[in-house]
Amino acid sequence: MLKGRRILLIVTGGIAAFKSLELVRQIRTAGGEVRAILTKSATEFVTPLSLQALTEDRVYSDIFSLTDESEMGHIQLSRNSDLIVVAPATANFLAKMRLGICDDLASTVVLATDKPVVVAPAMNVRMWDHAATQENIITLKDRNIKFIGPNEGEMACGEYGLGRMSEPTEIVNAIQSILQPNRPLLGKTALVTAGPTREPIDPVRFIANRSSGKQGYSIAEALAAAGAETTLITGPTNLPVPSGMRVLKVETADEMLAHCMESLPVDIAVCAAAVADWKVANKSDQKIKKQKNINCENLSLSQNPDILKTLSNADNNRPDLVIGFAAETEDILHNGIRKQKEKNCDWILANDVAMGTQTFGGDNNTIHFVSKKGTEEWPVMKKEDVAKYLAKKIIDEIGRV
Ligand code: PMT
Repeated sequence: MLKGRRILLIVTGGIAAFKSLELVRQIRTAGGEVRAILTKSATEFVTPLSLQALTEDRVYSDIFSLTDESEMGHIQLSRNSDLIVVAPATANFLAKMRLGICDDLASTVVLATDKPVVVAPAMNVRMWDHAATQENIITLKDRNIKFIGPNEGEMACGEYGLGRMSEPTEIVNAIQSILQPNRPLLGKTALVTAGPTREPIDPVRFIANRSSGKQGYSIAEALAAAGAETTLITGPTNLPVPSGMRVLKVETADEMLAHCMESLPVDIAVCAAAVADWKVANKSDQKIKKQKNINCENLSLSQNPDILKTLSNADNNRPDLVIGFAAETEDILHNGIRKQKEKNCDWILANDVAMGTQTFGGDNNTIHFVSKKGTEEWPVMKKEDVAKYLAKKIIDEIGRV
């Protein structure tokens, strides 16, 4: 999503500086390159070495260093980037930006640049509320500096209020919306479930299934790439955490449902998770002892909530477009049509999961698409291509909602 884009990250000295490491990881996962500048006070919170390891580049901090200036001067640092992000941005740094003070490398670069500048402020709530800071912000916004956050919440100093730095995901989204302004789902929100759920039998055993999460993750990535603010709610998988979206990890169907409901309202919901239909009603707090013959009658199962159906019937908060999958081993299309009606969702993507198809865990999928208007047969495709094709259909549809 940020392939080939060069981001210059300026880290200033605040407790939130540790989050800049995750920000670098997310920008790089999205395909972007990161070069970092640390202010002197930022080095009290993160080491140049850790940023160097994550950016795989040298870290700049000193404008008066002859080596820094001869190898990559302050003008060059700005010229060689597509966007500058200051995260965290302290009250002091915002004040310097407003007044044009350039007494170190970071402040000189932001004064010398003609590239878009994004700032993610982080400070104590009273410093944020102070008239001086607020006036600085108004002036900087007038000069087209893009602010992301701060968020409200508990602070390192023990107080509560506005001043927490935005999450790296939010900052990556802001960067993407500046660098790729014409994404068709910008301004829309999406929620995607993926992977299996695990229903515990005892502290060490569980009921699960073969879902790898590949199909759900690629749908979340396709929607985020199209500009939707995406939340991925995932059961346990071995896949790397995708960037540019909020990722919530769960184990059980109950946890998945709770996170889905907390994430509402959204414009689009896609349920690709293979949710266990049953959970163990009498799960044991202790490891069940090995017996000669396990008596399955002692294992009592109860039905899990149906997440897709719950979302489809959410009275006030029903997403505009609710999409489910149907995992079938026989009569695929017929069962898909039945499930679309039973679960009251808008679309169902029915797929054959019979032994030998490798739909569970494999890289390809063959979709029988069911909507209220009719059905379509999609050719066999890579799961990423199914995701892109679905995203395209969503873009076409959501424009009409
Ligand atoms: O993860 P992969 O290895 O990439 O494999 C992809 C996949 C095969 C898991 C995926 O393509 C798929 O078919 N997902 C749905 C699996 C499933 O649980 O199907 P189902 O027919 O049992 O359920 C129908 C729909 O109801 C699904 O959207 C499911 O997410 C949802 N559901 C089911 C049960 C439940 N308790 N809550 C639900 O929301």
